[in-house]
Amino acid sequence: METRAAVAFQAGKPLSVESVTVDGPREGEVLVEIKATGVCHTDAFTLSGEDPEGMFPAILGHEGAGVVVDVGPGVKSLKPGDHVIPLYTPECRECEYCLNPKTNLCQSIRSTQGQGLMPDGSSRFSINGEPVLHYMGCSTFSNHTVLPEIALAKIRSDAPFDKVCYIGCGVTTGIGAVINTAKVEIGSNVVVFGLGGIGLNVIQGARLAGANMIVGVDINPDKKALAERYGMTHFVNPLEVEGDLVPYLVDLTGGGADYSFECIGRTDTMRQALECAHKGWGESIIIGVAGAGQEISTRPFQLVTGRSWRGTAFGGARGRTDVPKIVDWYMDGKIEIDSMITHTMPLDEINTAFDLMHEGKSIRSVVTF
Ligand code: APR
Ligand code: ZN
Repeated sequence: METRAAVAFQAGKPLSVESVTVDGPREGEVLVEIKATGVCHTDAFTLSGEDPEGMFPAILGHEGAGVVVDVGPGVKSLKPGDHVIPLYTPECRECEYCLNPKTNLCQSIRSTQGQGLMPDGSSRFSINGEPVLHYMGCSTFSNHTVLPEIALAKIRSDAPFDKVCYIGCGVTTGIGAVINTAKVEIGSNVVVFGLGGIGLNVIQGARLAGANMIVGVDINPDKKALAERYGMTHFVNPLEVEGDLVPYLVDLTGGGADYSFECIGRTDTMRQALECAHKGWGESIIIGVAGAGQEISTRPFQLVTGRSWRGTAFGGARGRTDVPKIVDWYMDGKIEIDSMITHTMPLDEINTAFDLMHEGKSIRSVVTF
């Protein structure tokens, strides 16, 4: 079939909206009509050319929601008409990783996904017979896309696509880091570095978990009022702190954070996040993605004295199991999404979403089809 998609032909160039041929679903695959997609920093990172795994031409996008149109042979858990959220971290429930409760990093289709291909090693997308690559196993910047059954979370049918698409990446990454990775306990003191689309979701996750102090750290003073809305109790602007930030945060939290989260992607703030964690038990979770080749550092004594440094991807969530629950939390009013979606636009204006992100003007832009 023919569909419309925003295609990335070359690193550093704007996306171009094209007519693209999509082949039907093969064994174990599902054809999905994407109704809405968020535009995330990871898409911008790949488009910039700095992503060492990035390849072109490709159809980017990994934060979508849509409806099943057709299923290939052997697909059992989904049927046409089902509402779904694509998963860049699938959940096969059979591999060594899925069977280990300590991780969510299903590896069953990892190698082909990293090459921009379906599990059988081919692409379903082409333009004039020339193949176009998939991206993060999702390619939600296409009105129609094909995914393996194990990479789709079935969600309730009354959830609005243009809001719950954000659960496909940002919301789950932030809230999941608190609930699945850190397992924040009631009464914990939490410090969040970076109050963007990820950090705000860490904040609402900490509120949901019953945290005591929720300290937000950001160099942009405009983030204060916004973050308070999702549960931040204290705001710290590092540019206004006299002296070092770390002792200031340790003092503010009465000895250090029980849990800290880095949601910026800078190695210097990763170090600050670790070092503001409480001696003896504080845990620091890295969510932000640093540039290729960068390294983190601290004095080993920080770890010897009981702090731990961890990281998380997709909020430690097992997508097929956890994503439908997060959709329920949104529909039940337990978490907020609407106010984080600052811009909505049609596919033809998708490049504006990247501009708004680079200018720091949006929290999240959503493209609707
Ligand atoms: N100290 C404190 N805050 C900072 C600093 C700094 N040195 N530098 C930037 N910030 C703040 C910005 O003002 C902004 O509010 O960090 C926030 C980052 O937010 P966004 O740009 O919206 O990024 P977000 O989408 O939340 O993603 C954060 O997670 O998924 C990864 O690749 C993504 O690494 C990125 C990170
Ligand atoms: Zn993302």
